[in-house]
Amino acid sequence: MIEIAPSILAADVMHMQKDIQRILDAGADVLHVDIMDGHFVPNLSYSPALVRALRSAFPDMLQDVHLMMTNPEKYLVPFAEAGAGSITIHAEIDGDVAAILGDIRAMGLPAGVSVKPGTPAETIFPYLALCDLVLIMTVEPGFGGQKMIMAALDKATVLRKHGYEGIISADGGIGPDNAHEATSRGVNRLVMGTALFKAADPRAAILKSRREAR
Ligand code: DX5
Ligand code: ZN
Repeated sequence: MIEIAPSILAADVMHMQKDIQRILDAGADVLHVDIMDGHFVPNLSYSPALVRALRSAFPDMLQDVHLMMTNPEKYLVPFAEAGAGSITIHAEIDGDVAAILGDIRAMGLPAGVSVKPGTPAETIFPYLALCDLVLIMTVEPGFGGQKMIMAALDKATVLRKHGYEGIISADGGIGPDNAHEATSRGVNRLVMGTALFKAADPRAAILKSRREAR
């Protein structure tokens, strides 16, 4: 079963609730929430306050929180308390990735590890037993609306060959037209920003993505 995770970065901030509701009504499975600190990536986005607001507006929807932050350890508790459903950190940070994954799980949340396009899959082998999901970035993190980097998807093949059976997300430039390339390599959660929020017919986009995934 393939999950569709709309990246709310592509929502219109002035109409966020309406925009998100439209995508949920179209059949999305989880909300993908991108948090940027202006340091790990050259952009800023949201804070725990948004997670809290989303939690109250969409109480049944899991929030897949993606921390593009240099010091994610400082923000685990605020995001967990605000209502994060899972927390993903980056393998490229200087901090103790294994310890932070353990801290996320100790709060009762699924923990994820993410890799930028240039980071080899092997980098996260040591973390696979410590995490519940892997997020493969298929663009350089920081901005929505970029073109998907196909070569990054090969990491999903490597991880599946290595025996990893958890969730593998692909994030960045994903849409119905390349859903098959991702899922045929073992990706089972498709993060989609632009492809859903800017779609004339998001339901058709989701249906096509699920069809392509078979
Ligand atoms: C990029 C983010 C992605 C991105 C997805 O830094 O992690 O979630 O916004 O948006 P699209 O699908 O527009 O590339
Ligand atoms: Zn993301």
